[in-house]
Amino acid sequence: MAELFVKLANQQARPYTLPELKKMANNGMFGQDDLVFNEDNQEWVKAATVSELDPLFHASPASPERQIVYAVGGGKGGVGKTVLTASLGIGLASLGHQVVIVDADLGGANLHTCMGILEPEYTFYHFYTLQKDTLADIMLDTPVENLKLISGACGTLGMANPRFTQKLRFINELRRIHADYVLLDLGAGSSFNVIDFFIAADQGIVVTTPEPMAIQETFNFLKIALMRKIMRQFKNQPEIAALFEQEALRENMQNGATLGSLLQKIRAIDQTAGNAAATLFDAFRPSLILNMVHSQEEVKEGIALSTAAEELLYIHLEFLGYIDYDDSVRKAVKEMRPFMIDNPKSKASKSLAKLISVGLQGKSGWKGFRDRRRVIRQATEEAKNYPVNQMRESETICSVQCFYWGDCEYQNGGYPCPVRHLDPIFRR
Ligand SMILES: Nc1ncnc2c1ncn2[C@@H]1O[C@H](COP(=O)(O)OP(=O)(O)OP(=O)(O)O)[C@@H](O)[C@H]1O
Ligand SMILES: [Mg+2]
Repeated sequence: MAELFVKLANQQARPYTLPELKKMANNGMFGQDDLVFNEDNQEWVKAATVSELDPLFHASPASPERQIVYAVGGGKGGVGKTVLTASLGIGLASLGHQVVIVDADLGGANLHTCMGILEPEYTFYHFYTLQKDTLADIMLDTPVENLKLISGACGTLGMANPRFTQKLRFINELRRIHADYVLLDLGAGSSFNVIDFFIAADQGIVVTTPEPMAIQETFNFLKIALMRKIMRQFKNQPEIAALFEQEALRENMQNGATLGSLLQKIRAIDQTAGNAAATLFDAFRPSLILNMVHSQEEVKEGIALSTAAEELLYIHLEFLGYIDYDDSVRKAVKEMRPFMIDNPKSKASKSLAKLISVGLQGKSGWKGFRDRRRVIRQATEEAKNYPVNQMRESETICSVQCFYWGDCEYQNGGYPCPVRHLDPIFRR
């Protein structure tokens, strides 16, 4: 098979060689459901049915037994997903784990800025546009030992709406990376672009603050994620999918009894499908981080959300722990440094160290205490050599060469400059 004609998004494309198709499959541009032309029978068939194409879709991961892909999401914007992903990565790396943090915020990539990397040499854009073959090729070193970064495609709209198969390919490609932990920083909201990454990861983490609106959005996020999972599972059984759509999305899906009766209904129609649905509910076990906590009283909000998810959605939501509200986080963000590095002994850093050792790694008692101290000690060491960003808040970068010079009301003062963080994007 030298070359194959393919149809991409139902449009016939030129013939492709196998290596070309492999590249496209890696980047999610060619999937098992796409059509290829079978020369022998002179007909279009699904790529999944062509045995020669099998290796394109079933490559084995590099270290399946060790690697965990976490996705950090949760409906509300600005709750701290990005700053937590960066510092969580640093914390895990400081315990000796190989960690890769990945910016999967397709609309507003900023994880690199949070790490103080203003102009990433490679971004997801290079992978998506086939300029680089694998995610390993666009992986960047960070100043922290054991920690690497895959930067999002900043300032480009190219990845605004990838297909489900593209997202799945992306996740599968992530699994090929040699790392113990891969942490995905997701964008805000509950669009499929966010939800699909969340459900495709090994473990989803939702971040919320203890405020009612954030809690509500997190609850909805979990509900939508669960429904998306169900819809994908039953995409070839429309009558079952429709049942879920009608019943489960109705406002009255307010308790386990309703869900229980729904499962019974499905079992009556199709026993296997009913069992599959029950297994799916059971396997969906996201975790929760409560951020910006002001008091012990507020910690109860996390426990309440966890209980509500269990009782109303049948979801087991594990409460991993909370992070204190801490002005040092805001200061670190302004200086474009992860808070774990900027102030390893701050309240936020200490609560994150506890969350890593106890919540994430399940170490209790003395072992948990030892790991917590190790995280803080190692982060303190890393902080000594962490580059101080050129654009500290107190510095001015004002110049007549600025893109906005003509419109700028601060001219010649340059402080506080609202556009300086955008500069690398516009220079692209
Ligand atoms: N524990 C904390 N204490 C104080 N401020 C915090 C804390 N965590 C986050 N913040 C503040 O919240 C802001 C938003 O954080 P971040 O950008 O990580 O949110 P996000 O959830 O990633 O937002 P988006 O959904 O827009 O991507 C930060 O700039 C920081 O100032
Ligand atoms: Mg973010």
